[in-house]
Amino acid sequence: MKPILFDLFGEHPLARGIADQLHCSLGSFTLRDFPDRETYLQLHDDLRDRHVIVLASLDDPNPKLAPLIFLAETARAAGAAKVGLCTPYLAYMRQDTRFNAGEAITSDYYAKLLSTYFDWLVTVDPHLHRHASLAEIYSIPTQVVHATQAIARWIKQNVSDALLIGPDIESTQWLQAISNVSGMPYQVLQKQRHGDTQVELSTPAFTIEAKQTPVIIDDIISTGGTMMAVLQHLQALKSKPAICLGIHAILAGDTYERLLRAGAARVITCNSITHVSNAIDLTDAIVEGMTSMF
Ligand code: R5P
Repeated sequence: MKPILFDLFGEHPLARGIADQLHCSLGSFTLRDFPDRETYLQLHDDLRDRHVIVLASLDDPNPKLAPLIFLAETARAAGAAKVGLCTPYLAYMRQDTRFNAGEAITSDYYAKLLSTYFDWLVTVDPHLHRHASLAEIYSIPTQVVHATQAIARWIKQNVSDALLIGPDIESTQWLQAISNVSGMPYQVLQKQRHGDTQVELSTPAFTIEAKQTPVIIDDIISTGGTMMAVLQHLQALKSKPAICLGIHAILAGDTYERLLRAGAARVITCNSITHVSNAIDLTDAIVEGMTSMF
């Protein structure tokens, strides 16, 4: 029987492409809030012995958690053979240690929770820093898909004389991978975070030629503090206007507009999270990753 895909929060840009390529049908359901903001959910398909895929990007993760768990449980109660989670953006990966006494290590607790309700998980470039792999915190099979090939293709097609710039050591993994595929040069800066939005950069031996177009690449653009610090540094060097490229478009509040106002030539993201800046399609990469789960 064909697998069935539930686009839980509706109109995810990847839903139709994934469903078509995996020959899935799209699940029909009613999801709404009661007046007291509790969740009502009803699934309308026959799920007996079917492989159920839940597609949900987990940006703004807290309000999404209850519907996510309720869908997994309802599908199981309806006889689903397996319930997998395709989450192009996986939340709660950044608090991966206890920086100060008494702090919650939310990456671990969130992983434990999702592992309870799903049989497998596929995601795109999760923020793996102190955890070497998802297997350290998820007890279900996981598959990590990379956006780097698609990003390299986009830069090659759209930017001449690109210099790839990573804002911090963690970004080296993406810069190296994109540079390996494309042959484009890269430099990595060093970042110190002093607060949610305050970021300080150090730039050992950083140089850029007048003809080069800087492309600042990070996995997540959230408050834009990181991108803003690199933009300011490049402006002091009188480089060409930079392209800010993020895999995941959290872009909290008016971050997108602020980056453009601060002089970014463009702000470009992949379509893991729906945003006006989405320009890089991840369907093929995700489908390839998901086939290993069937
Ligand atoms: C953290 O180290 C990540 O790789 C990103 O650099 C970070 O999440 C970006 O956040 P913001 O846009 O708030 O500076």
